[in-house]
Amino acid sequence: MTAARHLSAAGVASPRVDAELLAAHVLGRDRGALLTAPGFDAVQEREFFSLVRRRADHEPLQHLVGSAGFHRLELAVGPGVFVPRPETELLVEWGLSAIAGTARPLVVDLCAGSGAIGLAVAAERPDARVYAVERDPAALRWLYRNASARQRAGDSPTAVAAGDATAPHVLAGLDGRVDLVLANPPYVPTGVTLPPDVAGRDPGEALHAGPDGLAVIRPLTRRAATLLRRGGWLGVEHDDTQGEAATHLLTTQNTWTEITDHTDLTGRPRFTTAHRT
Ligand SMILES: C[S@@+](CC[C@H](N)C(=O)[O-])C[C@H]1O[C@@H](n2cnc3c(N)ncnc32)[C@H](O)[C@@H]1O
Repeated sequence: MTAARHLSAAGVASPRVDAELLAAHVLGRDRGALLTAPGFDAVQEREFFSLVRRRADHEPLQHLVGSAGFHRLELAVGPGVFVPRPETELLVEWGLSAIAGTARPLVVDLCAGSGAIGLAVAAERPDARVYAVERDPAALRWLYRNASARQRAGDSPTAVAAGDATAPHVLAGLDGRVDLVLANPPYVPTGVTLPPDVAGRDPGEALHAGPDGLAVIRPLTRRAATLLRRGGWLGVEHDDTQGEAATHLLTTQNTWTEITDHTDLTGRPRFTTAHRT
């Protein structure tokens, strides 16, 4: 396929899959139905090759098709918001298991971006009361949009809080009552070179967090300790170099037990969990 060759030459990691997904988007079909689809008409062909050129320029595939699959949801994404990643689904799965025995759990997603984590929990647990905190105005627009769409689809409402996830006044009314805090905060150490699909595409505020990458995780975990009830759970994603640093950080806070680091499907350290004493 010409398009796949073009994407491959541009250094796109999965050129054939991306070309097929763009074709499916233009035709308004699933990728699996491409074999039986009619060919492009002239307008569709122009649109397809325009999208292929933008993908070759490393615009994220999800921005081009306007959505990202996450857990069992399809979320609207585009410029200004972090594209949710599959590895974060592991954090959601862990969180769901942590509240499996809790009726009407109170759940907070700190640094919510598109709302991926909080909305996925709300979709799986109709009895949960979920809050999502985000401070970036551009990301908030996507968060409000996705939260409204999920509510229209029948999920229980996720409350959006605009503000700093580390600030004591944000969701102060929930202090000491929360069953589960989940977070995928910025954690890329300053100066790390990112691939072209990420650099300048995902917002800087979503990625970078000081020289050691812990500049947000540090105050966020302290804020989580205040939000959680005794016996509540925290799960926080981190960079694959930060497994030891994150567990050490929680150990020094003296508010956590059962501090555990978890790996992703490739065996890399990915998120840390802890039980509020
Ligand atoms: C890595 S993205 C993750 C988004 C989403 N949770 C996900 O997994 O797809 C981090 C998000 O945190 C937001 N953010 C960064 N610092 C924040 C803070 N102090 N308070 C609230 N949100 C913050 C960024 O704007 C960005 O949307």
